[in-house]
Order: sequence, then structure tokens, then C-alpha cells
Amino acid sequence: MSASTNATTPERDATMKAIVQRGYGAPEQVLAPDDIARPAPSDDEVLVRMRATSVNTPDWLAVTGVPYLLRLGFGLRRPATPVRGSDIAGTVEAVGKNVTGFRPGDEVFGSLWGNSAKSLAGTFAEFTVVPASQLIGKPAELSFAEAAASVMSGITALLAMRDVGRAGPGKRVLINGASGGVGTLAVQIAKTLGAQVTGVCSTRNVEFVQSLGADHIIDYTREDYTRGTQRYDVILDNVLNHPPAATAELLTPTGILIPNSIGSARGLFGSLPRIARAKMMGWGSTDVRTVTCLPGQDNLNDLAALLVSGDVKVIIERAYPLGEAAHAVAHMLGHHARGKIVITD
Ligand SMILES: NC(=O)c1ccc[n+]([C@@H]2O[C@H](COP(=O)([O-])OP(=O)(O)OC[C@H]3O[C@@H](n4cnc5c(N)ncnc54)[C@H](OP(=O)(O)O)[C@@H]3O)[C@@H](O)[C@H]2O)c1
Repeated sequence: MSASTNATTPERDATMKAIVQRGYGAPEQVLAPDDIARPAPSDDEVLVRMRATSVNTPDWLAVTGVPYLLRLGFGLRRPATPVRGSDIAGTVEAVGKNVTGFRPGDEVFGSLWGNSAKSLAGTFAEFTVVPASQLIGKPAELSFAEAAASVMSGITALLAMRDVGRAGPGKRVLINGASGGVGTLAVQIAKTLGAQVTGVCSTRNVEFVQSLGADHIIDYTREDYTRGTQRYDVILDNVLNHPPAATAELLTPTGILIPNSIGSARGLFGSLPRIARAKMMGWGSTDVRTVTCLPGQDNLNDLAALLVSGDVKVIIERAYPLGEAAHAVAHMLGHHARGKIVITD
């Protein structure tokens, strides 16, 4: 990575506070604050001072290293990158020499997700470098916490509902895991697109998911949604706690199943076999499509427009200071967060 030659280059050899992962295990056992080298932006990157970041499934997967199969990709004894986190909102500290759209002091938000440079530190740190192509100006209407919390969950929800599922007027959409990070945003986005939405959640979240705009609620503690008679044009399954074949029974003849969960942290494979089975069903008569979070500027701008309009709100259950990032990851690992878990500077 070549350091920026811009006049705003931060002092070399500076250190920063970051949450460093030393091995796989429970968040409180393997994540701890430490001083590490502050990253320098390469030519097309921006150095951002973190004001807020959020916890997503890839973070707790990389912390626990379970399902174990994922360690083949992350690293056998510990992840190759020691700092977790991909969503970011903050202020520009310095820019690479090819970056023209940002200046020091700008308030921005975006994501490191999908960036293949293994040396990059994640966002659970005072500073992080982000590709300029995955960053936009933060609207003044959004707090740093809201902006950071929206990125991975919001783009996934937006692409799932708008592009993959093509939710719209006259379409019935079922969202399993409607009260989580992706689900809360997917419910609201599907409603703004004009769809009829059914949300699946537990009893304590029934009124909450209704307040997000869901037309119908299925309380999974009382009713198994796969046994219902209603048929759906789109099913976004954020939990994968039922066999995909049973969920697919609920589709209309032209319906689309979007399996969207690595699932719980269990054993060698976790829910990977279930995802594989869902994908194999897609070779037959069932329309199975996956969604991938693509945090480029177009998608970030579309998401920001929805949030600024007020039609879609980011629900934050709790914010933790950076030094307590391990508790933030543990909170999400409990699988019952309502909306998003945020980490602030
Ligand atoms: N495709 C992509 O690029 C992409 C990106 C991000 C995330 N994802 C996937 O999206 C999935 C959801 O992520 P998330 O951030 O929304 O997770 P999350 O915030 O941890 O989800 C928590 C929610 O799950 C609900 N839940 C737990 N057990 C449930 C059950 N049996 N039935 C229905 N709901 C249940 C909880 O509701 P209750 O408390 O009411 O039980 C809670 O509100 C993850 O599996 C992740 O792998 C995919």
C-alpha cells in the first residue's frame, strides 16, 4: 500500500487505539483494545476518523470462527486481518493522491466490505482506510450512528427487496427475522416500494415490527409460518431456521426465495448445508436468488435518499463505546438484537 502524498498526509508511524482480535472464541475473550499502527491511505483511499461503526454477521463469524469451515477463508488460527468491522461513519482525515471527491473534515459514511486488501484494518478502530468508491458524504439529517448502522444491513435489504425480489404494488412479501438489522430495514423498504409485508418475529417484537409498517405479523413462538396457507411473491429468509423446501412451499408459482443467512454459530458447517440445499433447489423449478451487499456509491446514495426522506429509519438498539466493542459483538451474537448494534468513538 503506497502512502498518500497529499498535503493532508497524517504523521507517519502514528499509532491508534483499535480492538484487536488475538484468536477465535467468545468476543470478551479474544477482542481487546490495543495500540496499533495507524493505516495510511493508498492512492484511491480515504483515511477516516471513526465516529461510529456497527456490528454485522461477518464480524461475529470472524470472531468466533464458527462454523469452523469458515476458518479456511479467514485464517486457521486467527483471522488474517486482526481488526473487525466494515460499516463506517466519520470525518475525513486524509486522502490518497487520486481522490478528488473528499477533503479533510468532510463527514462521510460507507464501507470497507468486499475490499480484498488483507492488510487493511477494520472499522473497530480510531481510524480506518476506505476505498473512495465506497464512501459518500453523510447527510446532515443522519447522525454518525444512524449512518454507520445503515450500511451493510440497509444495502442488503435494499438490494434484496428492490433488485432481487422486485417487491412492489400487488406483491406479497414475507420477511423472516423481521426485527433484526436487515429485517427492520427490509420491512420498511418493502413498504416504501408498495408491497404487502408479513414480518416473522417473536412475541416481544410483534408491536415493534407492526410499527415499522408490516401489514401482518407471524409470531414464531406461537405459529410455524411454513404451515400457513398464505402464498408469497417474495420470501426473504434472514434466519434459515426451517428447511428451504418447506419455506419454498409458500411461494406463488412465480415467487422468489431469497435465502439470506449464514445462520447460527454451530459446528463445522453451521447453516451452510441449508444454504447449499436452497441454492440447489434453484436448479429446479423454484426461483432461488441470493443477495450480496455491494456498498458502492450508487447504492449508498440510494440508501441515503431513503433515510433522508424519513420513510425508512435505522433502528439502533444500543450503542457501545469503542473500548466495549467485545460486548457489542457479544450482544449481536445473542441473535435477538432489535435493529442494529452500534459502536461509537
Ligand atoms: N447477503 C448479504 O450480503 C448479507 C449482509 C448482511 C447480513 N446478511 C445475513 O442476514 C442475516 C440477518 O442479519 P441481521 O443483521 O438482521 O441479524 P440480526 O440483527 O442478528 O438478527 C436478529 C434478529 O433475528 C431474530 N430472530 C432470531 N431467531 C429468530 C427466529 N427463530 N425466527 C425469526 N426471527 C428470529 C431476532 O428476533 P426475536 O428477538 O424476535 O427472536 C432478532 O431481532 C444474517 O444471517 C446474515 O448472514 C447477509
